[in-house]
Amino acid sequence: MLDLFADESPWQEPLADGAVILRRFSRAQADELLAQIAHVARHSPFRQMVTPGGYTMSVAMTNCGERGWTTNQYGYLYSPDDPLTGQPWPAMPQAFRALSDAASAAAGYPGFSPDACLINRYVPGAKLSLHQDKDEPNLQQPIVSVSLGLPAVFQFGGLKRNDHLQKVMLEHGDVVVWGGASRLFYHGILPLKPGQHAATGEARYNLTFRSTSKSE
Ligand code: SIN
Ligand code: FE2
Repeated sequence: MLDLFADESPWQEPLADGAVILRRFSRAQADELLAQIAHVARHSPFRQMVTPGGYTMSVAMTNCGERGWTTNQYGYLYSPDDPLTGQPWPAMPQAFRALSDAASAAAGYPGFSPDACLINRYVPGAKLSLHQDKDEPNLQQPIVSVSLGLPAVFQFGGLKRNDHLQKVMLEHGDVVVWGGASRLFYHGILPLKPGQHAATGEARYNLTFRSTSKSE
């Protein structure tokens, strides 16, 4: 099929101090990234985690890398093992690492070396409530977030939960990087609208790369 946007090259949109959207940055690698997501999920399946408060999250999650983000009855933690399988999380695919390296450098954070990648899967209606990414000990390191499949509305606020929220549509291949002054800014995803995407069907995937070690 003729893809009118096939050779659309990436462009950058500033989001906040320290935060930028790299539009379409990962589109050329998207099929490979999706194949690797499927590979990870064959070892560590997607599951809907339960928060310490007893709420089952609508987003299904898995991880790859040396550690993975998970929940238990006491809180949120990075664990070297998948609590579902009792095995280490699958290794981070080379294609993931290469993309994270390129995106962090393009966003002005060269040298970012993530050891964890949370993989989120949204089906229509799934959402991620406003939160801060604050379980990582070294806040000098940014977050790199890759969107694949159906579009979603990303909310990006400030340091306080009730700060003004920007709403931006994230589409297939978009990458958001936030660090520095905006590293602890509140963010979330509004309920996914129904739809079909050529690459993912009725779903959106998101990769977030994180560094969970204390310092570099
Ligand atoms: C996250 O905040 O961990 C994910 C955001 C997204 O799905 O775009
Ligand atoms: Fe987050």
